[in-house]
Amino acid sequence: MAAAMAAPARPAAVTAQPRTPVPGQPRAPSAPCEVSPHASGPVALPGRPANRPAPQPPPLISLRGVGRRYAGAAGVVALRDATLDLRAGEFVVVLGPSGSGKTTLLNLMGALDRPSEGQITVAGRELTGAPSRVLSRYRRESVSFIFQTFNLFPGLTALENVQFGADVARRAHPREAAREMLQRVGLGDRLEHFPHALSGGEQQRVAIARALATGNPIVLADEPTGELDFRTGLQILALLHDQTETGRVVVVVTHNREIARTADRVVELRSGRIVADRAVVDRADLEDVSW
Ligand SMILES: Nc1ncnc2c1ncn2[C@@H]1O[C@H](COP(=O)(O)OP(=O)(O)OP(=O)(O)O)[C@@H](O)[C@H]1O
Ligand SMILES: [Mg+2]
Repeated sequence: MAAAMAAPARPAAVTAQPRTPVPGQPRAPSAPCEVSPHASGPVALPGRPANRPAPQPPPLISLRGVGRRYAGAAGVVALRDATLDLRAGEFVVVLGPSGSGKTTLLNLMGALDRPSEGQITVAGRELTGAPSRVLSRYRRESVSFIFQTFNLFPGLTALENVQFGADVARRAHPREAAREMLQRVGLGDRLEHFPHALSGGEQQRVAIARALATGNPIVLADEPTGELDFRTGLQILALLHDQTETGRVVVVVTHNREIARTADRVVELRSGRIVADRAVVDRADLEDVSW
């Protein structure tokens, strides 16, 4: 399976999956994503009866029976038997108390960690057991990771931190991409600031800009609004929703149930188990949430 991941030079160009805009939110154009989640998907056959629902596109990310145990005296089981499908264009919120396994789940989907059991496939290709260089490439070219603890480089300015993301993902014009993304998170006037000279919320926005400047199709955001006031948090939430416009999947870990109201789906964790995975009927408009 590892060979299957390694073989192609770069996944085929995507057929973008436009979706309904979030009402009331301006839409800025974003770059098309480059992984085609539908490369190996079923072809719609003519003659399907009109009353039968259209087949769902194949999942972009699939987890089957995924578990993560940490060795040691305590023998923590951080995640158990997680089965989940995430589709291109979906905005998914992961809820759960502290220690319930949210970051563990995100780290596994982003190949920052390997499962102790189960299988993870992305665009039909298996990550489980893939060699490190394949996982490294997947992280570089497919994942936009927003860390709970920001992980900014202290010796790089805001602009250089964000440019790093664009460089790693090999985007054309990385400096311009970085500048533009910092403007979009409201930090156009903080480009030359080092992290120590930025507030917690500003550092969080630099971390978000760095992740999104990669242009990668799988956005994994760990508490992306935790440090932000309501107004700024709402702007970031809108920016994250924008990412789904071109077929990106966005997974947001949060404790904020108002954010969950704006999602397509909500996954809930308790003690390492997925206890709920539901579509959000009556998705809330961004202008109707507050916290
Ligand atoms: N490297 C590790 N070694 C041992 N145990 C770990 C490790 N990482 C996480 N854990 C444990 O796994 C469990 C799940 O941790 P995780 O970080 O996924 O929780 P979380 O839901 O993200 O919590 P929070 O909301 O506080 O960020 C916790 O009990 C934690 O102590
Ligand atoms: Mg966490």
